[in-house]
Amino acid sequence: MESKTPRESRTLMTDMVLPSETNPLNNLFGGELLARMDRAASIAARRHSRRITVTASVNHVAFNQAVPVGSVVTVEAAVSRAFRTSMEVFIDVWMEDRFNGEKSKVNEAIYTFVAVDDSGKPTLVPELRPETDLEILRYEAALRRKQLSLVLAGKMKPKDATELKALFMD
Ligand SMILES: CC(C)(COP(=O)(O)OP(=O)(O)OC[C@H]1O[C@@H](n2cnc3c(N)ncnc32)[C@H](O)[C@@H]1OP(=O)(O)O)[C@@H](O)C(=O)NCCC(=O)NCCS
Repeated sequence: MESKTPRESRTLMTDMVLPSETNPLNNLFGGELLARMDRAASIAARRHSRRITVTASVNHVAFNQAVPVGSVVTVEAAVSRAFRTSMEVFIDVWMEDRFNGEKSKVNEAIYTFVAVDDSGKPTLVPELRPETDLEILRYEAALRRKQLSLVLAGKMKPKDATELKALFMD
């Protein structure tokens, strides 16, 4: 299988925030943003693998800034590392200033997707070939994030306390 770059899976989804998608403070409801991120990340994972993909885990979600009703929001997703059957997808969320059009980053998240066949069985994905400094940084840190996610999901046991501590250290 031929390797692919993050650029090939990059997915941009731009939409505005409607009143029905807000919390009582008239800011974007967290669950709505999670769904938008899931959708964009799912498309990125599909572009990388060209397979059916399912969300395996949602990690490192940071709601750093409230997003008011009427805002124009762009969700940017790209595969940051591919393993055997799973892919880490990095998501950056940008808000556009309504007066000068400048974009500022308001949120980020990291999702894991697994490529599956028609019966839902995990299937192999192409390797990822990072190109830019940021892509290399994210690629290199992804293995530890995967191990941490598996430990938190109870699917992997660290050998000892030192290994467990190392997983939590940045
Ligand atoms: C995700 C799913 C396919 C994994 O199936 P599984 O039987 O655990 O398969 P495996 O143990 O072979 O794991 C498959 C891959 O997923 C990875 N994985 C599984 N759970 C993970 C987690 N919590 N965090 C990170 N990676 C995870 C494994 O490490 C493995 O990666 P690799 O092959 O790249 O090394 C299965 O749990 C599933 O179908 N879940 C439901 C998905 C879904 O419906 N999502 C929508 C949310 S409603």
